[in-house]
Amino acid sequence: MPHLIFHGHSCWEVEGENHRVLIDPFLTGNPKADVDANSFETLDAILVTHGHSDHMADVESIARKTGALVVSTNEVANYFGAKGCESHAMHIGGQRDFPFGHVKFTIAHHSSITDDGVALGNPAGVVFTIDGRKIYHAGDTAVFMDMKIIAELSGPIDVALLPIGDNFTMGIDEAVLAAEFVQARMNIPMHYNTWPLLEVNAGEFVERVRGLGLGAMIVEPGERYAI
Ligand code: NI
Ligand code: MN
Repeated sequence: MPHLIFHGHSCWEVEGENHRVLIDPFLTGNPKADVDANSFETLDAILVTHGHSDHMADVESIARKTGALVVSTNEVANYFGAKGCESHAMHIGGQRDFPFGHVKFTIAHHSSITDDGVALGNPAGVVFTIDGRKIYHAGDTAVFMDMKIIAELSGPIDVALLPIGDNFTMGIDEAVLAAEFVQARMNIPMHYNTWPLLEVNAGEFVERVRGLGLGAMIVEPGERYAI
């Protein structure tokens, strides 16, 4: 079975039987990161939800070193393609089978722009399927009603990775509603406690989601979760 490894904030490594994929690499400058950006040796792909630096700070260096394919929305993928990274452009609603797994991009209500002002189109969430398990990484987003059809379009979600840190994304109230909409078997919070601005009580999220009859747990940076 595949494993999720949390590297802090919204950065997740997905380790399948034969493939390894990274989502939203933000290690350099991430006070919660448990690894260095240069610690990755072999990587098939990097999935990127949007163009904020706390989601793509290390995309370029890791992609260059490992040769990983950068898969993202059109604007983000082409941004890294122009920097010499291998890239594949997709967009919201689109899905594609890759050798390393199946990728489908979803809506996210947020923005997507680099620190120096390069507008990178619409942000996204991503449903990634590997070894028969489905992971929904919501990216940065508010809750939205269309979360109700994510599982209808993709099939039942095994794990939902949901931002709960408030201020820039859903807080706990919205994230609990998101869990209810998505109906994933397991719900894991992210994008919280990275900085004082994002401090929330993740235990409250876990308790309230369990109250809905759904799985929920905290995964700390450096910990692995068997999907
Ligand atoms: Ni963001
Ligand atoms: Mn963010």
